Amino acid sequence: MTVNRRHIVLGIGGGIAAYKAAELTRALMEREISVQVVMTRAAQEFVRPLTFAALTARKVITSMFAGSSEDTLASAVEHIRVAQEAEALVVAPATADLMAKFANGLADDFLSTMYLAFTGPVVIAPAMNTNMWTHPATRRNLETLRGRGHVIVEPGEGFLACGMVGPGRLAEIERITAAVLSVLERRRDLAGETVLVTAGPTEEPLDPVRFLSNRSSGKMGYAIAEAAAARGARVILVSGPVHLCPPPGVTTVNVQTAEQMRAAVKAHFEDATIVIKAAAVADYRVADPAPQKIKKGEGGLTLRLEPNPDILSELGRMKGNRLLVGFAAETGDPLPEARRKLESKNCDMIVGNRVDRAFGSDDNEVVLALRTGEAVELPRASKREVADRIFDHLLKLRAALPATK
Ligand code: C5P
Repeated sequence: MTVNRRHIVLGIGGGIAAYKAAELTRALMEREISVQVVMTRAAQEFVRPLTFAALTARKVITSMFAGSSEDTLASAVEHIRVAQEAEALVVAPATADLMAKFANGLADDFLSTMYLAFTGPVVIAPAMNTNMWTHPATRRNLETLRGRGHVIVEPGEGFLACGMVGPGRLAEIERITAAVLSVLERRRDLAGETVLVTAGPTEEPLDPVRFLSNRSSGKMGYAIAEAAAARGARVILVSGPVHLCPPPGVTTVNVQTAEQMRAAVKAHFEDATIVIKAAAVADYRVADPAPQKIKKGEGGLTLRLEPNPDILSELGRMKGNRLLVGFAAETGDPLPEARRKLESKNCDMIVGNRVDRAFGSDDNEVVLALRTGEAVELPRASKREVADRIFDHLLKLRAALPATK
């Protein structure tokens, strides 16, 4: 494989649409993409591997242990090597079974094992009988895969091999090819950027066991960190206390209080080219936290609160040419507040969302207030998809804006 040639893995599932994967292979190769084909056992019942070997001039991978007659380490870890070499994993046709395996992390053949080992972008083009496509189990698996940021090229409607007419037919080859090209383009578009993200709530102690905090889950900030890493950025994630796994390839700095978050953000600010403050920082902290556990008394308890530093405002005063993004979580229409914060905190973008539609949820529905004066309403989507749209608009902003203050 030459270094500049784009390289993908095409996983072919066992459905009648497997024959269309030959056309897809050609279409991708015509666009200068080299293709490593992996076929499931069922796919080989529909089309012979020889078809794809001839098209790609490469050995087709047909099973976990095929070709490993030599008991070498190389053959035992081939799925890892194949995963590392690919810039994208494209699965077409994706059967209901493959989607279920991916969604649940089953790894009982080469394709599903490689899927788990693969950290890059995934494009899934399902094809199946209408009833299988609309089954609640498939819908749930589809949402899980979408939530991971995979691009789903929805099947079209039409005459199906089973005799039914309805949704389930593999999307047109041109649509799948376009999705692969856009994913490959996007994959590189944050290369060279250092993205600093904050996420989650902060906890402000009252005493060694109690604290003041809020309901932020951290999911939006983690989705932003994951999207940035997937698009080639170096990512530093400063996280308040949350119940989430750090995304792969991201440097995570764990903090508890707003003061600690401020120190961590400032320590990495110099290097950052894009700063996204998705954290729900506590506005107040307890002025004099007790060194010992506060004992229950007869009467009430009065806490004296003092304001925390507004980290985002501080960054706004020293932003230079960095792109600076804040969040506005509101109980009513977020746009007026988002616009006000854009000015007062000197940001390039404020992501406005409604507390009742965002906190704790896997989805989000946001409006972007941009430095150009525009407002962009994004349709409700998974937080991972929203994260990608935020970066799409940030890159457009960078191109449109003169070097900022
Ligand atoms: O002013 P408000 O708290 O509504 O603004 C929210 C935005 O400001 C978020 O991006 C949040 O991360 C940031 N913020 C901050 N420091 C604070 C309070 C909020 O950086 N003390």
